[in-house]
Amino acid sequence: MEGSKKHYVDNTAQFSSAGLIIRQKEPKNLEAPFDRIDSYLTPAELFYIRSHFPTPNLDSTSYQLRIDGAVRRPFSLSYEELRSMRSETRVATLECAGNSRVFLVPQVQGAQWELGAVSNAEWTGVPLRALLERADLPEDACEIVLEGADRGTPKEEPVPPHPISYAWGLPRAKAIQPEVLIAYEMNGRDLSRDHGFPVRAIVPGHYGMASVKWLTRIQAVREPFHGYWQTSDYAYWASMDGRPVRRALGEMKLKSEIGRPRVYETLAPNRIYTVSGAAWAGETDVSEIAVSTDGGQTWAEAEFLDPVRRHAWRRWKFDWLTPKKPGKYTLLARAKDAGGVLQPDEHDQHYGVYVINHSLPIEVFVDDSGGSPQP
Ligand code: MTE
Repeated sequence: MEGSKKHYVDNTAQFSSAGLIIRQKEPKNLEAPFDRIDSYLTPAELFYIRSHFPTPNLDSTSYQLRIDGAVRRPFSLSYEELRSMRSETRVATLECAGNSRVFLVPQVQGAQWELGAVSNAEWTGVPLRALLERADLPEDACEIVLEGADRGTPKEEPVPPHPISYAWGLPRAKAIQPEVLIAYEMNGRDLSRDHGFPVRAIVPGHYGMASVKWLTRIQAVREPFHGYWQTSDYAYWASMDGRPVRRALGEMKLKSEIGRPRVYETLAPNRIYTVSGAAWAGETDVSEIAVSTDGGQTWAEAEFLDPVRRHAWRRWKFDWLTPKKPGKYTLLARAKDAGGVLQPDEHDQHYGVYVINHSLPIEVFVDDSGGSPQP
C-alpha cells in the first residue's frame, strides 16, 4: 500500500453525524468522540482539531511554498506544481501531545482533552525528502523548520516579544525519512481548512505538533532551532549528565485507549459486553494488547481488528462477561510494543502536562437498572 495511490475502502461516512466535542471555541480545539470511532480511518468531520491561532484563509491559486535557508538551491512551488510531483499515500495516526490531560490528578493547566485528541487518516502528498533533494540540502543542515501561515501572540508565559507564526523544527534524521509528507489530501479529498488547506506537513510517528498546517515555508538551518513552540510549550525535562535539560517533544509514546464503554457507563450484569479501543506507537509497532476489568490485578489478551502498519493505530476488542455482582469496576487497557516494552501504568512527571500515555482507568457501573444494549 505505501507508496501507491490506492485508497482504503471508505467505511468512514456512517459516523459523519456524530460531531466533535468543543474544548475551546476559538482558536479551534475540538476533540473526536472517541467512543464513536468505529472506522479505521477517521472521517475528516470527526478528526480532532488542534489550532493555536485562528484558521488562516489561504487561496490555493496564489499559494506558494518556499524552500530556503541553508540549502544550495532555494525555490518556491505553487499548489499545482506540488500536486504534479510524484506523490505517496500513507496512513498515519496523529495524537496531540496533550491528549488525555483530563486524567491527570491534580488537574493541570491546558485544554482538558479526554480521549479524542487522536485520530487516524490516510494522507497524500510529496515526500519532504524529494523537496530537500531538489533544494540540495547540505550535510551540515541539522534541522528543517516547518512554518505555517497562522500568526498570533501566545497567551502563556513567557510571552514572546512580538507575534509569531506556528513553526516546528524537525531533526534532519526524521525530516529525510520517506514517510514524512508535504500533504494536500486527507482520506482522498483536499485538506479541509481546519486541517491545513491547502498544504500541511505530516510527520508520522511524532506527536501532532510536528505536523505543521497551512505550511508556507520549509527552512533548513545549521543550528538547532529554539523556537517558542519547542522550548516553551511542547518541551520536557530530559537528563544530560545528571542535569535536567529542556528538549522538544518528538516521537509518540506507546498508548492504548478504551473507547467503549465510556467513563461511568452502566452495564448490565452477567452479559457479554464488547470492550473496544485503539492502540498506537511512535517508531515501533504495537504487538499485543491486554485488558483488565479489575483495576489492573489481572489481565486478559484482547484481539486486534487491524493489522500492523507502522505509524497507524490498531483498533482492538475484548468480549467481557460482566460480573453478576453489581458494583463499580475499573477497566484498563495496556499495549505492548514490538520490543516487549509495556505501556506504563503511571504518568511520567518529566513530561509535565504532556505525554499522558499511561493506562487510563475507565470506571463503569454494573447494575441491573442500566445496561443499554450495545450498538
Ligand atoms: N500547525 C499550525 N500551523 N498551527 C497549529 O496551531 N497545531 C499543531 C499541528 N500543526 C498547529 C499546527 C498541533 S499541536 C497538532 S496536535 C496538530 O496540528 C493537529 O492537527 P489537526 O488539527 O489536523 O488534528
